[in-house]
Order: sequence, then structure tokens, then C-alpha cells
Amino acid sequence: MGKLRVGVLISGRGSNLGALLSAAAHPDYPAEIALVISNRPEAEGLRRAEADGVKTVALDHKLTKDRGHFDQVMDGHLRAAEIELVCLAGYMRVLSPDFVKSWHNRMINIHPSLLPSYPGLDTHKRVLAEGGRISGCTVHFVRDDVDTGPIIAQAAVPVLSSDTEATLAARILRAEHLLYPCSLELLAAGKISITDDKISYVGVEREQPALFSPATVKLASAQ
Ligand code: GRF
Repeated sequence: MGKLRVGVLISGRGSNLGALLSAAAHPDYPAEIALVISNRPEAEGLRRAEADGVKTVALDHKLTKDRGHFDQVMDGHLRAAEIELVCLAGYMRVLSPDFVKSWHNRMINIHPSLLPSYPGLDTHKRVLAEGGRISGCTVHFVRDDVDTGPIIAQAAVPVLSSDTEATLAARILRAEHLLYPCSLELLAAGKISITDDKISYVGVEREQPALFSPATVKLASAQ
């Protein structure tokens, strides 16, 4: 069976993109990152993708007033590259309803909180302000409302009393870098199915993706 062709949308640093690329470099990983698109031409993540020989498209959303049109252009690039699944990795732009509809159940996102708690921006600041003791990250299918949609996997981390936004963000980011490749692996290997917004895990002993594959174990040990 061929590898699942994945397109990644980014806006900036691209460390989650980096984690996906590292996992995908393993010969047994069932997905390949075939295209990276940024809505900001200066996004650092584009350089990482280029270094790995992955095709990139740098767009500038500031040059296009119409969100729907901008998303149609992205859609055209994704289809031309025969992308089968879209991963949002720090893509900081709200997507138009038509784009979300056309990638229904074929587009996933990673968010740095335990959804449905703390959708949106400034998650770490809000967790700290409200005294939460646990936070984490979530990978989910994308729906129209920002940071909603069926949850594929989550990872929890403690919130320490000494935490600042930066230390909590760094702890969660380390978890993100394991959770996203694990989640993509489950999907690409056909181990997740979704019917009427209900997710089932097929042939997976433990529903939460542990570090079950050589690719993700390698990632974990590199941290
Ligand atoms: C991550 O925290 C991700 O969860 C959120 O945006 C951030 C992107 O970071 N959606 P990076 O660009 O992947 O380093």
C-alpha cells in the first residue's frame, strides 16, 4: 500500500511540521509530507521543509482580501499535489466554510490545550490565570468553529506552580511533537475510522496512541 500523501499548512516556526517530517523520514511511517503551504512567505517552517526536499508554496494572505479566494488557491495547490489529508500545524488563519467542507474528515489540527477546554488563543496564559493543574494538547478533525471537531488523541502534562507561560508552552510543545506524528500514523495506517463524528480505533490495543512505532519511539528518545 502506498503512503498517505499529506499537505501541511503552517504560518510560522513550524516545529510541529518538523516533528511530522522527522517521523515521516522513517521508512515504515505510513504517511509522506508531500506539500507544505504557508500563508506567510517568511514562515521559518518553509526553510525546514525545503531542507528536507519537500515542495513548498509560500502565499501571502495580505495580498488577497477575500478569504474564500485565498483558500481556493490553497485548495488548488493541494489538489494539484494529490494531497489526501491536510494537517494544520500552527496555521493561524481561520479557514473558510467551503474549504473546511471540502476537506471534511480529511483535515486535522493540533491545539495546545485539552479541548474542549481553552479553545482559541492565549491558552497557557488562561490556564495559569485560572489555576489549572493539568493541561496538554489535542489532535482533532477540523470543523467550522475554531478548535472544535472530533478528538483523535490527547496528551496531558502537569502545570507546575513555578510555571510561566513560556515553561508551560515548552512542556506542552514537547508533548505535541509526539502526539501529532502518532495521530497521523494512526490515521494513515487506517487505524482510525470516523462515522457521524464518532471516532473508532481499529486494531489498536490502547486507544490513546502510546509511543507504539519505531518512528515515534525514535522521536521520543531524541527529545
Ligand atoms: C503549536 O503550539 C500548535 O499547537 C498551535 O500553534 C503552535 C505552532 O507551533 N496550533 P509550531 O509552528 O508548530 O512550532
